[in-house]
Amino acid sequence: MKIKIAPSILASDFSRVGEEVVRLEEGGADLIHCDVMDGNFVPPITFGAQMVKALRPHTRLPLDCHLMVLHPETHIQNFAEAGADIITVHVEACDIFELFRRIEGYGVKKSAVANPETDVEKLFPAAESADMLLLMSVHPGWGGQKFIPETLKKIEKLRNYCVKIGRGDLDIEVDGGVTEKNVKDVIAAGANVIVAGSTVFRASDMAATIARLRG
Ligand code: DX5
Ligand code: ZN
Repeated sequence: MKIKIAPSILASDFSRVGEEVVRLEEGGADLIHCDVMDGNFVPPITFGAQMVKALRPHTRLPLDCHLMVLHPETHIQNFAEAGADIITVHVEACDIFELFRRIEGYGVKKSAVANPETDVEKLFPAAESADMLLLMSVHPGWGGQKFIPETLKKIEKLRNYCVKIGRGDLDIEVDGGVTEKNVKDVIAAGANVIVAGSTVFRASDMAATIARLRG
């Protein structure tokens, strides 16, 4: 499967996110991971659809919007109209099928995500129709946290389930604490879309780091 790198702008310089996104595209990123936080589903607040709208003209890369929000159903239209290419919603925050229907209605790719403490089986029903599935490998809300090693088993289980239902080529994204040290294990377990915030933005050579993460 193609390994895709999705740097998270949560780790970028918020005073110049547009330039940072251009730097990511020039550095070889495959997607731009946009961590949307509402201060309710997770304590911090980051940004909303306005940011996605502002970034849209600066990159051709897919804008991969991870909605860490309550009532995601109230935000889908705004993110779709802002130019989101993928919208990921938390199984803990909504009825996935209701949200998938809404997201699909706007012609946007639909993805479901589960937190570290949520059983991976909770993503299985979404696997039939999702365009991507996301497993959190840190507790959502902050960048720069340590990768939770139990996630590797969850990735394996999810990939095996996708193979079993004939969706072996479904994109499985992992988000949080991924570094050059653990990325090989993450990919070997079955993930093929890698979110990396701190690892990419702390790098002295962003392009080289993105290339190394891709393997
Ligand atoms: C946390 C976010 C993650 C995080 C990843 O809630 O969903 O995307 O920004 O950042 P790093 O790679 O620094 O853990
Ligand atoms: Zn994220």
